[in-house]
Amino acid sequence: MVPEQDVLTISTIWSQLARRAAQDKSLHLADLFASDKDRFERFSLSGAGLLADFSKQRLTDESRDLLVKLADERQLKHWVDALFGGAEVNCTEGRSAKHWCLREPADKAPLVHEQLSRMESMVNRILQGHWRGVQGDAITDVVNVGVGGSDLGPLMAAFALQSSQPPQGQSRPRLHFASSMDGSQVSQVLQELNPRTTLFLVSSKSFTTVDTLHNANTARQWLARGLGLDYDDASLLRCHFIGISANAERMSEWGIVPTNQLLFWEWVGGRYSLWSAIGMPIALTVGMDGFREMLAGAHEMDQHCRTQPWRDNIPVMLALVDVWNINFLDIRARAVLPYDGRLKHLPAYLEQLEMESNGKSVSRSGEPVEYDTCPVIWGEVGPNAQHAFFQLLHQGTQAIACEFLMTARRYTEDEHSESVCELECQHALSNANCLAQSRLLALGERALDPSLALPAYKRYHGNQPSTTLVLDELSPRVLGTLLAMYEHKVFVQAVIWGINPFDQWGVEMGKVIATDMLAVLADPESATGLDASSMALARYVANKQRSS
Ligand code: F6P
Repeated sequence: MVPEQDVLTISTIWSQLARRAAQDKSLHLADLFASDKDRFERFSLSGAGLLADFSKQRLTDESRDLLVKLADERQLKHWVDALFGGAEVNCTEGRSAKHWCLREPADKAPLVHEQLSRMESMVNRILQGHWRGVQGDAITDVVNVGVGGSDLGPLMAAFALQSSQPPQGQSRPRLHFASSMDGSQVSQVLQELNPRTTLFLVSSKSFTTVDTLHNANTARQWLARGLGLDYDDASLLRCHFIGISANAERMSEWGIVPTNQLLFWEWVGGRYSLWSAIGMPIALTVGMDGFREMLAGAHEMDQHCRTQPWRDNIPVMLALVDVWNINFLDIRARAVLPYDGRLKHLPAYLEQLEMESNGKSVSRSGEPVEYDTCPVIWGEVGPNAQHAFFQLLHQGTQAIACEFLMTARRYTEDEHSESVCELECQHALSNANCLAQSRLLALGERALDPSLALPAYKRYHGNQPSTTLVLDELSPRVLGTLLAMYEHKVFVQAVIWGINPFDQWGVEMGKVIATDMLAVLADPESATGLDASSMALARYVANKQRSS
């Protein structure tokens, strides 16, 4: 049973938190550290290959206690049980949200494991050079055609893990990703590839997303031309396209042969789908054993989230700290800053996971919420961001929460025998920068020699809160743990705010209007009822096109 839950009423605990925040406004992180030598021990958690340090957040024991009480008041336990019990937590679409089920062991989720086995045999055929193009060539290049969750998750994780050893005796294909609707990626990718040796994964939960269908169509025309075959040629479809979707009918209509169809289910949200066959690019990077390791790491986090008391629970504490910043300290932006370049695509993945899930302003029962929900999230590889937007973090006028990510172990003799020393140095340099930045943001100029008399333009106020996440190493297993942690964190926040994190009605209307706009662009003069700006822009573009 899904517990009843309405818009969050301004309860006693909420009011106490607000009062506490008003009192704590004058607290500086430098003072919190100076007055408490055990602060790190008391405000950090570790487990499953991860360490989360919240001690540079503007938290005190009192505010943490109240936040934990808020979680109880919002019936978090019932909601966690509802999620993991398969209840219809996605109320506007009448669905459960069982992405966690994709990482359950075989005896608990036989259908999931059946699809995993089908994916395994395809992955192995590709990695062993047995999957052949229509003219008998082994596949050298695989292009993932998908967008949103059917692109961002597999792209992020495959990129993060590409420096792991390829599976023994297997040869990894080169991976490419084409998502953008305007064709800029697919056109570039196709220029570099040979149709005889290229395989396309058409990844779309709905198999109706126009971005993906247009890119897939361009790829299919390119193959047909390059191989001298018809667009509908059965062998072209059999040898060069795999479809991954929850909609078998649509895949068949498009032309994906049944043996090349990998299925997942309506109860897996697009942005939670990298654990399903949507993760095939990840399996092509680390092999099926590596992929299963990633699932095992995520499963470990599922267990952690279900069983740990809130104050020892990493995703719950991450969520509560965000709520504290957003709703009580008025900090409404968060920068995600990985100090390991392999996590380059993590910020974009999290932008979708968090903002598409929790960018909501009505409660489950349809009432407007009277408090802020998801903050603005953006990010960049930390050391590069230092040369771009860190100036604003250090000396701008906005309070911004930062999330630093670093890896403890990296570069081994086996993988980088020739330059392991130099690379180890670079790793240390990057981690030193990570620690330096979070320290300076927290303490401000008090991290420096306090006797220095600084002019105004050289002063650092500090007190910018941050969380640091340390991964023991960036292995498939730890990556799985990290990503499941973020998924559960998003869910916990949604429970606190009383919103549904599993739908995305805000992006649906734009798709409908875009279809109407195609007709307007083709003939602006026939359009009626358009606003003056859209009309003038459509006319301008159409005129320029005609005159070129
Ligand atoms: O942008 C909305 C959205 O539905 C996302 O939630 C989803 O990940 C993306 O489009 C792609 O959808 P599909 O996998 O169905 O092509």
